[in-house]
Formats: sequence, C-alpha cells, structure tokens
Amino acid sequence: MEKALQEAARLLAEARRVLVLTGAGVSAESGIPTFRDAQQGLWATFDPMQLASPEGFARDPKLVWEWYAARLEQVEKALPNAGHQALAELERRKEAFLLLTQNVDGLHQRAGNQNVHEIHGSIRRVRCTVTDHVYAEGEIPVRPPFPLLTPQGHLGRPDVVWFGEVIRMDACAAVERFLAAGRPDVLLVVGTTGMFPYIQRWVMQAFGLGTKVIEVNPEPSALADFCHVELAGKAGEVLPGIVSPP
Ligand code: OAD
Repeated sequence: MEKALQEAARLLAEARRVLVLTGAGVSAESGIPTFRDAQQGLWATFDPMQLASPEGFARDPKLVWEWYAARLEQVEKALPNAGHQALAELERRKEAFLLLTQNVDGLHQRAGNQNVHEIHGSIRRVRCTVTDHVYAEGEIPVRPPFPLLTPQGHLGRPDVVWFGEVIRMDACAAVERFLAAGRPDVLLVVGTTGMFPYIQRWVMQAFGLGTKVIEVNPEPSALADFCHVELAGKAGEVLPGIVSPP
C-alpha cells in the first residue's frame, strides 16, 4: 500500500489534466449511507421503485417528498469530509480539472470544487413536473406541506434522476468535451462500485488513451482491470495523503 500511495501521489503531482469520477463512497465518512451497503444502505428498508421512480412519485408524491425531505435534512447536516476537501485542493492546483459525481448531495461544491457535474442531479434543487423549470437551491423551501408545489401551483419534484429516467446529458457532454480537449494525465475514481455502463465506459476510454487510472475504494470494484494504481482505503484517509503528501 505504501508504494501504491507514493505512486499515486507522484502521478497526481505531475499531472496537468485531471478527471475525477466519484460515487456514494466519497460521502460515506460524512455520515451519508451508500446505496448498496447491505446493512444500512438507503434502499435496505425502503422500496426503491416507490421512492425513486416516476411511477412511484405519480402514485404517492407525498410519501416520496417526505422521504426526500428527510434525506435532504441529513445532507444539510452533513459536512464535507477530508476526502471532499482533498479533491477541492486538487482542483485548485491543476491547470485542467473536471469532477463528475453520481452523488446528489452537493458536498463537493460545499468543499470548494468548482467544475462539478452531477450526472444524477441534485437533491438540493426542485424541478417543475409541468414546465421542467429547475428552481435554484433554496428558491422553493423543502418543508411541509408535501408534496411541494411551485409558485404557479404545479407539482414540484426533487431534481434527481430516478430509475428508468435519462441521466443528465449536460454532465455527460462536459466529460466528453474534457476528454476531447486533451488526454487526461490522471483519472481518479473514488467510492463507486462502477456498476453503471457510462462510468465504466469513461474509465475504459481513459485507460485506452493512456491516462493513468487511480482508484480509491476499500472494496474491490468492477473497474479493477482498468486501474494502474488501486488504493484499498477510505476516501477521507487516502485522498489527503496523495493530494498533499506529507
Ligand atoms: P454504491 O453505494 O453502489 O457504492 C459505494 C461504493 O463506495 C462501494 O464500492 C464501496 O466499497 C465504496 N466505499 C464505501 N465507503 C467508502 C469510503 N469511505 N471511501 C471510498 N469508498 C467507499 O454507490 P455508487 O457506486 O455511487 O443512482 O452507486 C451508483 C448509483 O447507484 C447511485 O448514484 C444511485 C444508485 O442507484 C441513482 O440514484 C440514479
């Protein structure tokens, strides 16, 4: 592990262009449970098709809003951890940097990252189900009575991607533009099982371009075959040491 940490620190120090892909694991140390954690996963005690699908929302928007309001409260109480902070520091040091996250919690932005793209949307925004207008954070306060209505009296929904919905194409386009503008020197993959094909494709694409791929995850993920350096540890423990080595 020590050698791998040194190698990752060297690759990051030398890199000019850095692409970062993150998943639920990066927020685990902020107290936000990951999706697939069998014991305490968010979906373990709830039916995901009721709480995170357009059909479930149509059936019972009040229930879905109550659940999202509780999740939002948890996210707002949480603080960015040392892993988020290290990624913000990494962005400050690099000439070109893009962070694509599958998380909806906004913790990367709160840590100070600027070029963040949320492929699954954000729990912190409300979208109109009629006009598709997205209200900025806080514009429609998330508090009872639920379901939330827009000022026009239309039904509002959390601005997140649910099962069966299309991912955020603007986030995809941002990654594609970043890749087209020049080969990233390093791709850093943090805290994701890498189960989604679009995440796998970017990792394979970068690998094929000759980008050095570094993964931070305490468990083996689906992406191991495409990683040059695998760091089996927690984001909050590993990232500070490879971004700002002692
Ligand atoms: P998962 O919950 O599937 O996986 C979390 C990953 O984080 C696992 O690989 C863990 O080993 C790892 N992990 C746990 N603690 C960690 C830590 N402290 N540091 C680093 N890694 C850690 O989360 P995602 O891969 O993000 O989609 O899941 C992807 C998507 O599945 C989510 O965005 C969500 C869900 O369905 C939607 O809501 C559309």
